[in-house]
Amino acid sequence: MVKAWYINDESVVNVEMVKRSERHLNPPQYVTLDELKRKIGVQTEWINVNKYKTVENLQKLSVQKGYNYWDIIDIENHVEKHASFYTEHMHNEPEVRLVLDGSGYFDVRDAEDKWIRVLVEKGDLLSFMAGGYHRLTLDSNNHLKLFRLFGSEPDWTSLNRPQDDHPVRIAYALQALNGF
Ligand SMILES: [Fe+2]
Repeated sequence: MVKAWYINDESVVNVEMVKRSERHLNPPQYVTLDELKRKIGVQTEWINVNKYKTVENLQKLSVQKGYNYWDIIDIENHVEKHASFYTEHMHNEPEVRLVLDGSGYFDVRDAEDKWIRVLVEKGDLLSFMAGGYHRLTLDSNNHLKLFRLFGSEPDWTSLNRPQDDHPVRIAYALQALNGF
């Protein structure tokens, strides 16, 4: 089940150490799934992934959810990519990810530009709107296997912040003012 909370800002020396930890405020400040949806545009649900172990079943799940393309990525196998995932960025398309195994942190910015850390674990499906700033990291378990879903041909472009003049970013920011 997805859990989310505000984290301390980055003014740290050892980023590798802290990026994989919970980094709660003191006292902790949690964010509800409803707030995540309304304020940030992050939607979540839980899926019993044990029912979708074969390629055929994953294909069925993809179609059932309305997506035409998918792939699977093991983040620990992409150490060189890990740094780019953790660099704050946005996309032109929604980011839709189902955790097939392991766990990790999907950090998103709120309207006041504060970081919210979203813990995703096995079975969590997260979809985030195009134009929202975010980043991804492994947690201390060092294992995250993701099923990545796309509505159209996958666009792997990550647009690093700042993108404040980008039309997709502007559309996201305007929608965030009124809630999603
Ligand atoms: Fe992303």
